Amino acid sequence: MNRYPEVFGACQIYYPQDAEVRLLSFGCATGEEVLTLGQYFPHAQIVGIDINPWNIKTCQQHSVPEQRTFFHTDDPRWQEQNTYDAIFCMAVLQRTENRTLNPQDSSQIYPFSMFDQQLVELDRYLKQGGLMVLDETDYRFEDAMVASCYQPLAWDKPVLKERCLFDRNNQQISEGQTLHRIFVKGER
Ligand SMILES: C[S@@+](CC[C@H](N)C(=O)[O-])C[C@H]1O[C@@H](n2cnc3c(N)ncnc32)[C@H](O)[C@@H]1O
Repeated sequence: MNRYPEVFGACQIYYPQDAEVRLLSFGCATGEEVLTLGQYFPHAQIVGIDINPWNIKTCQQHSVPEQRTFFHTDDPRWQEQNTYDAIFCMAVLQRTENRTLNPQDSSQIYPFSMFDQQLVELDRYLKQGGLMVLDETDYRFEDAMVASCYQPLAWDKPVLKERCLFDRNNQQISEGQTLHRIFVKGER
C-alpha cells in the first residue's frame, strides 16, 4: 500500500480531493494501488487493469465501493478513449531482466518500441489536460513519441534514478538520470 506517496500527493494537488475524476491504474497487480489511490481520491472512479488473470481475480475479492473496478487488459470495458483524468503506470513499463542481468542492449528483453507503442495506446484513453504518471520504467518518457504534447507537472520534483535505463536505440545509459514522473497532456 502507498508505495508512491510523493507522486500521488503531487497529483492530489492537481485534482482536489472532492473531484469526481476517473483514474486508470495500468498494471494494478493485486489491487493495492487502486485501494491507495482511493485514499487520495475518495470520490474518484478508479479502474485497475492487469495482464495477469490471477491478479485480477485477487483484485475482485477486495471489498470496495462500486466506483472501483478491475478488468483484465483484454476486456474492452476499460478501453474508452479520452475518458481518464490520470493514468498511472507504476513499475509496469519495465522488465526485471533489464535490471538484474545488466544488459548493454535491451532489445531482446523489452525493446523501446514496445514501451513507445504502449504509451501511444494509453495516450488515446487520457483526456487533454490529464496526467500521465510513470515510475520505475526501463525508458525515459521524454523519449516516447507521444511525449511531444506533454509537459512535466510544474510541482513534480524530478528524482535521480540510479537504476538501469535505456535510450530509444535500446542502449544502456551509463550515467544516472534525473527524471520527472508526472506529465500533463497538452494539445496535439
Ligand atoms: C511490479 S507490479 C507493479 C504493481 C503496481 N503498479 C505497483 O507499482 O505497486 C507490475 C504489474 O504489471 C503487470 N503488467 C505487466 N505488463 C503488463 C501489461 N502489458 N498490461 C497490464 N499489466 C501488465 C504485471 O502483471 C504486474 O502485476
